Amino acid sequence: METGIVSHKIIIVGIGPGDPAYLLPKARKIIEDARILVGGKRALADHSHSGVRECAIGADISGVLDFIRDALAEDDVVVMVSGDPGYYSLLDALRRTFPVDQIGVVPGISSLQFAFARLALPWHSARLLSFHGREPLEAELFRAPDAMLGMLTDGRNNSQTIAARLLSRGWHEKDRMYVCTHLSYKDEEIIETTLGAAKDDVGIGHGVIIVCAHEENV
Ligand SMILES: C[S@@+](CC[C@H](N)C(=O)[O-])C[C@H]1O[C@@H](n2cnc3c(N)ncnc32)[C@H](O)[C@@H]1O
Repeated sequence: METGIVSHKIIIVGIGPGDPAYLLPKARKIIEDARILVGGKRALADHSHSGVRECAIGADISGVLDFIRDALAEDDVVVMVSGDPGYYSLLDALRRTFPVDQIGVVPGISSLQFAFARLALPWHSARLLSFHGREPLEAELFRAPDAMLGMLTDGRNNSQTIAARLLSRGWHEKDRMYVCTHLSYKDEEIIETTLGAAKDDVGIGHGVIIVCAHEENV
């Protein structure tokens, strides 16, 4: 039955780690064609274009969801998120707020995937965790032979606090830690250290940390 109701879509696009060179062509086209664009300030600065209506994602997530709800009456809404939408992004909140059949997802390269690639390290056996605004369960932090952790961090949970936490969970001082920040950007930095050294060093956050139980693995 024809209802006459136009159902616009939310297209959530993963923009990868940051450098537009790592954006999928499909994602680029959707962003270029967007008339309503939602994203972090940096993403909007990198990808905005003339004639587009914008909403910046900040701390007020319910304000962003209200903007999207109103904007859908007019047109499709393209939401840019860092990395891949399936790994800790606005996708969770969008699924809780809007019908799933109104949501389309275009994948992107996750910062975790990118960090493993930079280290030429297979990640099929890695345990992926997020310390970004959340705390993994204690049970997820255990050490096992050949264990490998890939972690998102924020300002509070950083290389120093995470090293101390892992050491208290049975990890070894000599276990290797890679602290990866600004991945894909010109100021990208990857610091190789050990848990023992990192726990006494300045904490570095807002990046990806990879920890390997066996230094021979890399
Ligand atoms: C809200 S989470 C988003 C994760 C994203 N969906 C992904 O797949 O990478 C934000 C966290 O992603 C990580 N991150 C995103 N971009 C990064 C980059 N270019 N370099 C290092 N870490 C990055 C940091 O841990 C940051 O705190």
